[in-house]
Amino acid sequence: MKYQKICVLGLGYIGLPTASTFATHGLKVIGVDNNEQVVVSLHNGKSHIYEPGLRTLVQAALRSGNLIVKKEPEDADAFIISVPTPITNEKKADLSYVKTATESILPYLQKNNLVILESTCPPRTTIDMVASILEGSGYQAGKDFYLVYSPERVLPGQILREIIENTRIIGGINPTSAEAARELYATFVKGEIILTDATTAEMVKLMENSYRDENIAIANEFTRIADHFGVDIWEAIRLANRHPRVNILKPGPGVGGHCISVDPWFLVEAAPDISTIIHTARKVNDSQPAYVVNFIKQSIGNLQGKRIAALGLAYKSNVDDLRESPAVEVVNLLANEGAKVKTFEPYKPEATVKNSNVCVSLKEVIRDAEVILLLVSHTQFQQLDPMTIRPITPAETAIDITGGWKREQWETANFQFIRLGQKIKKDKLS
Ligand SMILES: NC(=O)c1ccc[n+]([C@@H]2O[C@H](COP(=O)([O-])OP(=O)(O)OC[C@H]3O[C@@H](n4cnc5c(N)ncnc54)[C@H](O)[C@@H]3O)[C@@H](O)[C@H]2O)c1
Repeated sequence: MKYQKICVLGLGYIGLPTASTFATHGLKVIGVDNNEQVVVSLHNGKSHIYEPGLRTLVQAALRSGNLIVKKEPEDADAFIISVPTPITNEKKADLSYVKTATESILPYLQKNNLVILESTCPPRTTIDMVASILEGSGYQAGKDFYLVYSPERVLPGQILREIIENTRIIGGINPTSAEAARELYATFVKGEIILTDATTAEMVKLMENSYRDENIAIANEFTRIADHFGVDIWEAIRLANRHPRVNILKPGPGVGGHCISVDPWFLVEAAPDISTIIHTARKVNDSQPAYVVNFIKQSIGNLQGKRIAALGLAYKSNVDDLRESPAVEVVNLLANEGAKVKTFEPYKPEATVKNSNVCVSLKEVIRDAEVILLLVSHTQFQQLDPMTIRPITPAETAIDITGGWKREQWETANFQFIRLGQKIKKDKLS
């Protein structure tokens, strides 16, 4: 095995599981993060992010002595870059983290090293940006050192399993580079390893997330049309999905997180005139929180002074990640309408959100609420029995934005029950 020691730059949701998995598979790993707090917390054996099983894995990696956490890179056989790639306010790719991380490798780059970019990036970033920075060393990419782009496609909540079992795409700037990375990933990857070129691999990742975004956008758009015609979207989707080749997703408060709400913009920026569907899907999903707030307003009237208990702030169920979360946006917009919003996010009870009062328990958030609003279908909220909270809340209305609750249960417990996509016209009901 050519690679005995690797350096992983960026110890977040992707880099920390990657570094720890390599370490527990016998490689010497230098985990690098330029955030002092991340380094200190890992030195204390604590994972600063929540992911099932991660704390145990990190502790095993640290205990083995194979994982060492530092603020600066050092000499290694291979370098993996997994730093953030957010978008700017203008919806342009912010590649400043990738640039800084790549530059930080430069003093340590040696002949025959392998450099892997895992951060999601616009097409040609590996060739146009990373290669040219690294060639400042005097070494030639693909000849003196190997360079690949390899997208990470894990699902938060299942990262530790998927990082090993998923199919791994490796895009080399030349075939020798791709082969070199195959050897490294084969340390722990049990899924198929497929080699391609770097720009194809970059496109693959962006296509996957744009495809997801578009599928969610059409579910959200169908909901708006169903509302317009007084059709129950949940019933309509259930029936449409009885078609053998149709699988419509569920509507909700919008799309968030670090990936699906961000990555399609990289394609829009790279090819604005020919990415019309991708752009439109983004606009539909970005406007969904406003649609949801309008739906709530139409359902319960003026929101001024309304005491609303919002359940969930994460961008999706059973994760602690609030980045780009549509639930947070819904809370902001409700507050702008004059509602008095209290929030409870069980996966990040300490999370602060502008314009809302953060509570640390379900009991606290519903104590004086008029409306209970489900924004994220965390399992514990889905399993909430309305009978058990009936005696401890004055709320008369429950609003379900995710399809996570059962109408009969809430109505039996004497709540008025409202669900996104069930704005049934009175004439149909009469
Ligand atoms: N989170 C996901 O589910 C997911 C899935 C697939 C792909 N990705 C992509 O992976 C990349 C990383 O995402 P993430 O969610 O792990 O981000 P993250 O914000 O959780 O972690 C990134 C870490 O990099 C550190 N960092 C920033 N600049 C650095 C530098 N110059 N040197 C060392 N450390 C530095 C930050 O302090 C942070 O701890 C992004 O491009 C993202 O789009 C993420």
